Amino acid sequence: MQSFKELTGQFSKHFDQLQFPEQPNRLYDAARHILEIGGKRIRPVLCLMGNELFDELHQDAFHAGSAVELFHNFTLIHDDIMDKAPIRRGNPTVHMVYGETAAILSGDVMLINVYERLNKVHAKYQKKLVSVFNKAAIEVCEGQQLDMDFELLEPEAVDYDSYVNMIGLKTSVLLAASLQMGAIIGGGSEGNQGHLYAFGKNVGIAFQIQDDFLDAFGDPEKFGKQQGGDILANKKTFLLLKAFELCNPAQKAELKALLASNPEDKVARVLQLFRDCKVDEWAEKEKERFTQMAFKNLDDIAVLTSRKQPLRDLADFLLNRQQ
Ligand code: IPE
Ligand code: IPE
Ligand code: MG
Ligand code: MG
Ligand code: MG
Repeated sequence: MQSFKELTGQFSKHFDQLQFPEQPNRLYDAARHILEIGGKRIRPVLCLMGNELFDELHQDAFHAGSAVELFHNFTLIHDDIMDKAPIRRGNPTVHMVYGETAAILSGDVMLINVYERLNKVHAKYQKKLVSVFNKAAIEVCEGQQLDMDFELLEPEAVDYDSYVNMIGLKTSVLLAASLQMGAIIGGGSEGNQGHLYAFGKNVGIAFQIQDDFLDAFGDPEKFGKQQGGDILANKKTFLLLKAFELCNPAQKAELKALLASNPEDKVARVLQLFRDCKVDEWAEKEKERFTQMAFKNLDDIAVLTSRKQPLRDLADFLLNRQQ
């Protein structure tokens, strides 16, 4: 069993060999841009871990992992257009540098490259792998649509369960599917695949809670994104939903007024209200709740406990990350 760090190194060596053509250079420079500015490579590492949980690492896990990482980067390019985000991974976003046309098209090219990667895996499980991937990919689109729809709704119109459902779709299913794809390659049973998928789903929800938390309270230098981007976009994150639930009528009125306008100090004022309502503290407990459910799913997997350690370590890292 290899650690998160070792697997990230191995995967990067494989993934960095990926080459795009030179022309049209605006299109392919845009694709190279997002891949060269970093990223934690969590999803492919989950794929490798899913494989290693049941068997020795197979080359197909690197192909499947590359497919998933390409897909993830495609979603980030398009997500940054939808979210009007200026910064990603500490650098200007693709559409800011190359324009929206190249950003949309480079995302499209990357998505097609996903299937080139999936074409390389062994025929004995290719169909299953593609269908697990396709299900997740469709769900990501559904989650992204809900996220955008929620921007336009009043906070009272979005309940907490709808938020969890939305982040489950836009974020968790890809983590869960990455693990399951690895498990399929490693020969894990259907039952074990299901437990591993459930683990990924719960870790993914805690992961997105941390992402929403960092968007508001993180150090932008480390996090690499614009601080308060979710506040500026009126995203219905758990911070906002919970603040509405916990605050007094005067605070509620102030929050409502801030949502309906765009004063220069909007981010600072909303953050102050979040702190006053203690929703930042609540985040810790909520992450812990989903993490405990995830660890219970991990316990249900019928392999030696020692084989599960890298997954535990990765979950701990993800949920306490600052970047
Ligand atoms: C960012 O994912 C998008 C979310 C689902 C929150 P990551 O935090 O894994 O982004 P990179 O790939 O490491 O930049
Ligand atoms: C993004 O959620 C999920 C996908 C890209 C599918 P966010 O919009 O919160 O991700 P970041 O914060 O921009 O990375
Ligand atoms: Mg975004
Ligand atoms: Mg988004
Ligand atoms: Mg975010």
